[in-house]
Amino acid sequence: MATSERANFGSKIGIILASAGSAVGLGNIWRFPYLTGEDGGAAFILVYVCCVLFFGVPVMVAEFLIGRRSRANTGQAYDVLAPGTPWKWVGMMGVLAAFLILGYYGVVAGWTLEYTVASASGAFLGAKDFTAYFNDFVSNPWRPVVYMFLFMLLTHVIVVRGVKEGIERCSKVMMPLLLLIICVLVVCSLSLPGAADGLTFLLKPDFSKITGEVLLDAMGQTFFSMSVGMGCLCTYASYFTKDANLMKTAGSVALIDTSVAVLAGFVIFPAVFSVPGLSVDAGPGLVFVTLPNVFHLAFEGMPGLGYVFSLMFYVLLVLATLTSTISLHEVATAYLHERFGFSRRKAAIWVTSICTVLGVLCALSFGVLNGVRLGGMTLFDLSDFLTAKLMLPLGGMFISIFTGWYLDRRIVREEVTNGGRLRIPFFGFYIFLLKYVAPIGIASIFINELIR
Ligand code: PHE
Repeated sequence: MATSERANFGSKIGIILASAGSAVGLGNIWRFPYLTGEDGGAAFILVYVCCVLFFGVPVMVAEFLIGRRSRANTGQAYDVLAPGTPWKWVGMMGVLAAFLILGYYGVVAGWTLEYTVASASGAFLGAKDFTAYFNDFVSNPWRPVVYMFLFMLLTHVIVVRGVKEGIERCSKVMMPLLLLIICVLVVCSLSLPGAADGLTFLLKPDFSKITGEVLLDAMGQTFFSMSVGMGCLCTYASYFTKDANLMKTAGSVALIDTSVAVLAGFVIFPAVFSVPGLSVDAGPGLVFVTLPNVFHLAFEGMPGLGYVFSLMFYVLLVLATLTSTISLHEVATAYLHERFGFSRRKAAIWVTSICTVLGVLCALSFGVLNGVRLGGMTLFDLSDFLTAKLMLPLGGMFISIFTGWYLDRRIVREEVTNGGRLRIPFFGFYIFLLKYVAPIGIASIFINELIR
């Protein structure tokens, strides 16, 4: 773990794109739109943006500074900064979360691959019962498993190539491509007839829609979408160079992440509203059931355009998902590699194997294992609930307490100002957010839900 042998990202833009690549994923294009659809549109988006500003960004900076200061993976970073204390469990929970998230995230990642193949083969051109298509596919005993496995392999191959050659290189190609595709899709979608209703839904808040449940959803979504609360960005930051500006990087990542989520809304809702009778609160099926309907109904008479739109959309999903799965994989791989002295390849093989097993269980929970339930939830739902709604916000709360209360203020200042070289005007405010606003805010949303 000596500094000299650790890998580093090669450039500042590489740092931003890799971190943004981790953040931008299914969370933005699949989860955010369906939560927005279920939780009332604009009002949810407003709450979400507040969570990003008051919880997401401060915790992201905290993870960055923990990672860069310790120059260790999440699982060991706390042992470097607070040796022999129980803080190490915050890091360990992060590693566990990485395995669990990759397990179920890999399933939806597999769906995106199948849908890309299907749209390339023209499956979304004619009229079809897309609900049945989706249900048949996800409950099939082997097809989702195969696609999940293919996605894991793709992730594996990139991670094995290392931080600079694998992760950074890939992010530098995929992220700009992703931004380009989403902009083209926004233009297409806004030009559909009926798009205005979709815009109203996204832009005109109805505050009566904000309930305790909506707050919890928005908070969980913030941590999930920004990849914070489990040390994913802590592991990435351990590869940051000394001159990276942590505050600015966090600001850029938050901006890119939120923009992509909102842009995904601008792609999906105008399209959905342009087809009478389709519902926006389709839940997780929104981009897999509702959108294929849009592709063929909204583009009736111009099937060529519908074909291109659908193919581009699912390619977008695959790209976004892949840059996120590699970051999850890296958290676990770096831990096994550095903690147990495994070679990077061996560590990666372990991670891929364990996550594939979890992935198979989650994939089958839509079909043959649907009856296996814990607390009324399938294994897939349980993984989502445990990680996005519990572990990430809890992790975020502990990370802010660790940085705001436990860690020597000098260390925090040194990291944030790069040893005094950067002027950070709101340092005091930042500490205030970490000490009070984030922990108290997160705790009260939790308590509010528990006593409901
Ligand atoms: N942020 C990713 C997304 O939005 C998911 C993720 C969560 C990735 C946690 C890494 C760590 O899809």
